[in-house]
Parts: sequence; structure tokens; C-alpha cells
Amino acid sequence: MTKVGIIGTGMLGEAVGLHLLDSKYEVTVYNRTKDKIENLVKHGAIAVETPKDVAEKSDIVITVVKDASAVSDVAFGNDGIIHGRHDGLTVADMSTINPNSAKEISQKFSDSGISFLEIPVMGGPNVAIDGKLVMMISGNEKTYEKFSDVFDTIAEKTFFLGESGTAHSIKLAMNLQIAMLALSLSEGITLTRKAGFDPEIFLKILNSTYFKTGMSEKKAYRMIKDNFEPTFTLQNLKKDLDTINEAAESFNVELSMSKMASKVYQNAMDAGFGDIDYTGILAYLKKINQ
Ligand SMILES: NC(=O)c1ccc[n+]([C@@H]2O[C@H](COP(=O)([O-])OP(=O)(O)OC[C@H]3O[C@@H](n4cnc5c(N)ncnc54)[C@H](OP(=O)(O)O)[C@@H]3O)[C@@H](O)[C@H]2O)c1
Repeated sequence: MTKVGIIGTGMLGEAVGLHLLDSKYEVTVYNRTKDKIENLVKHGAIAVETPKDVAEKSDIVITVVKDASAVSDVAFGNDGIIHGRHDGLTVADMSTINPNSAKEISQKFSDSGISFLEIPVMGGPNVAIDGKLVMMISGNEKTYEKFSDVFDTIAEKTFFLGESGTAHSIKLAMNLQIAMLALSLSEGITLTRKAGFDPEIFLKILNSTYFKTGMSEKKAYRMIKDNFEPTFTLQNLKKDLDTINEAAESFNVELSMSKMASKVYQNAMDAGFGDIDYTGILAYLKKINQ
């Protein structure tokens, strides 16, 4: 069976690793902060000391770290993945990063003789634990096909999109939906509360219409109970809004709402809401409207 390595066992990487172990894969793990691998090791993962060690022990290494600079650190730094290169090694990056950075990273791996795929996903740890992510893939199609068993285990839907950079362009458009939906739901709930209504009434009516979403049908009920236990942190969504705005600038397009959303999420972070769930944008709105 394919030997899988995971570098970055934060919320998403840990859930992906647990599901692969549950599906009987051999999984080798590394995380910069050591205690975040403990749960995986308890479930049978092999712990190693460096990204290089992960590469040496794996056919495919999946990186799930914060941003493009973190991907570069674990890939090309001291004891990085490239130092564990061997025949047939493939690296697949699941982190959400700029399509332009993805292309640069892909080229650097290719120059080092390592195959590289971009595999950004939709869905958080709560669905990753059951292998129900939605995965967008770009890079070499034959490399994708070689490891399709792993990708089909991680995700219930996979979309091969073409050459390097393409998957992340779509992923950024996806995260723009997440940022806007969380914001519009939060503003709707805040407005309803200020008008003297129970926000559950707003949700009940919204969810009776064409404009309902998975977020309004599920997460919104946790939001109105002030439950902001993170599955995807507000600071990581803000990072993605920055990435969206950088990408828009490089494509020479004006995305006014993305720029405004980025400011609101930045204000929420400055007010100390960065470590809670991204839907905690509602808690920030509550604070500024007291
Ligand atoms: N959670 C989701 O729902 C979700 C869904 C789709 C995509 N994503 C994307 O997946 C990636 C991980 O998200 P997450 O939710 O798992 O975030 P997280 O819980 O905050 O974990 C971030 C991970 O990145 C590592 N990291 C950060 N900077 C690093 C560096 N310079 N060198 C090495 N490791 C570094 C962290 O290591 P330490 O523990 O040492 O800090 C940690 O393992 C992000 O790009 C995110 O946008 C997340």
C-alpha cells in the first residue's frame, strides 16, 4: 500500500492523517510543534523528527501548513523535504496558498527532481475525519492518477483541473464564498437581534428560501449560541482573504468586496478574535454594536 507522509498536523492535517490510518495506510508524521502529533501516534502513525525524514519514509508527502512561506520552509529549508528525495517521491500540497506561489513551489520541486501536485480542499476537520473532503487537483495528470487511491480516500469528490496554479485559483474563489457567507449571516443575525427578534426566526425564514446554504442550515445555529469552537480559525480565513486580494491584483482584477471583507476580518483579529472559528466574526460584530 502507498506510504503516506503528513507534514503539518494542525486541525486539518491531523484529521486527514487519522482517516488515512483508519483506512489502513502507513502514515508518517511531522509537525513543527511536537505535541500536535501525539494523537496521531496513539492511532498508529510513525513519528519522525524532520520533513526530510518524512520524505525518506514516504511515497507521497502531503503538506498541510499555514501558508506559502510555511510550505517553502518545510520543503526547501534545512532538513526540508528535498533533502529526503528518492525515486518516485511525490509531494502534494493541501495548504491554501496563492496560485502564483504554487507555481513557483512546483517549479522548485521539479528542478529538484520531485513530482508536485496541488491538492487544496473544501471542508474542515469535521468532514476530513470521514474522508468527505472535496479536493481540487492541479499538476501532472499521470502523477495524480498514480496516487488516486490516496486522494479518493481523503476526499469524496476530486476534480482534476489541469496545470499548476489552477486548483488554487478555484480554491480562492471558494474561500471568498466562505468569508462573505460568514459575514452576511453575521450581519443578518446582528440586525435581527437589534430589531428585537430571536435570530432563530431569521434563520427559520432564511432556510425556507432559495437563499439558504449549508452554513445557514448548520453552523448558524452554533453561531447564535456563541459557540465558536474552531474548525477553521478566523486568522486563517483572513490569511486567505489576503491571498485572494494578492491574486486579484496579480490578475489585474478589482474585487471591492474582498478588500472590504479583509478589513473587517483584520479589525476582528486586532480585537482579539483571531484564534476562534471564522464564524466568530459574529462575536466581533456583537462587541462593536454593544
Ligand atoms: N481547517 C480547515 O477547515 C481548512 C480547510 C481547508 C484548507 N485549510 C488550509 O489548510 C492549512 C492548515 O489549516 P489548519 O486549519 O490545519 O490550520 P492550523 O490548525 O492553524 O495548523 C497550521 C499548521 O501549519 C503549521 N505551520 C505554520 N507555520 C509553519 C512553518 N513556518 N513551518 C512549519 N509548519 C508551520 C503549524 O505548525 P505548528 O503547530 O508548529 O504551529 C500547523 O501544523 C491552511 O493553509 C488552511 O488555510 C484549512
